[in-house]
Amino acid sequence: MVVSCWSAKGGSGTTVVAVSLALVLAARPGPGVLLVDLAGDAPAALGLPDPSGPGVAAWSAAGAEVPADALARIEVAVAPGLDLLPRGDGPGMVGDRAELLVALLGADDRTVVVDCGTLSTGSAELAVAAAATTSLLVTRPCYLALRRAVAAPIRPSGAVLVNEPGRALDRGDIEAVLGVPVVAEVATDPSVARAVDAGLLASRLPRSLQRSLRGAA
Ligand SMILES: Nc1ncnc2c1ncn2[C@@H]1O[C@H](COP(=O)(O)OP(=O)(O)OP(=O)(O)O)[C@@H](O)[C@H]1O
Ligand SMILES: [Mg+2]
Repeated sequence: MVVSCWSAKGGSGTTVVAVSLALVLAARPGPGVLLVDLAGDAPAALGLPDPSGPGVAAWSAAGAEVPADALARIEVAVAPGLDLLPRGDGPGMVGDRAELLVALLGADDRTVVVDCGTLSTGSAELAVAAAATTSLLVTRPCYLALRRAVAAPIRPSGAVLVNEPGRALDRGDIEAVLGVPVVAEVATDPSVARAVDAGLLASRLPRSLQRSLRGAA
């Protein structure tokens, strides 16, 4: 199963949701989880140094002479049951290998969570997000973000709402506008921001995140 997390507007909380979802799923019994970082912030959000060496972006740019199984050699162990496929330095994914990437990820025994970042038309990240088994739009209950989401080049299968107190828009509005269910509501919680800033998300995932993301995938 491949779960893509993406946004239509930057700074929505996509990386925090993708990383936390991967941690929540990795705690379940089973073959484990592979977190694929197409956006570049996952190592920092996990409190890891940026992995040295090539990442999935370089793999995609290398073309057909690089064997498909080279991808497995790029993986970094994060925690029991959780491996990371880092993005690596340089420009992002190259489009013509997006389909191969999705096919390889889809054939993996593990649950795959992909941080696709903010999608732009024609990008490889968009192709990966669209081909996932479950495609999750991460959004704040914000009019400007929702306008972007409606205009996004793909429709999600569900939305993760990063909620803030005092907003005029709520879950029902998001569902009505997007026409998809809100599968999780994540509170904007200072303990989440502090955990990210301190690099402690992987070792001490705040309970609010654990609870809210349980039903997301
Ligand atoms: N649930 C939350 N509660 C409090 N702060 C949060 C929450 N989710 C994310 N943040 C904070 O908001 C900021 C943006 O989060 P994040 O990097 O996950 O967003 P993003 O959508 O991935 O951004 P980008 O567009 O740059 O990739 C970070 O400082 C993060 O710590
Ligand atoms: Mg991000």
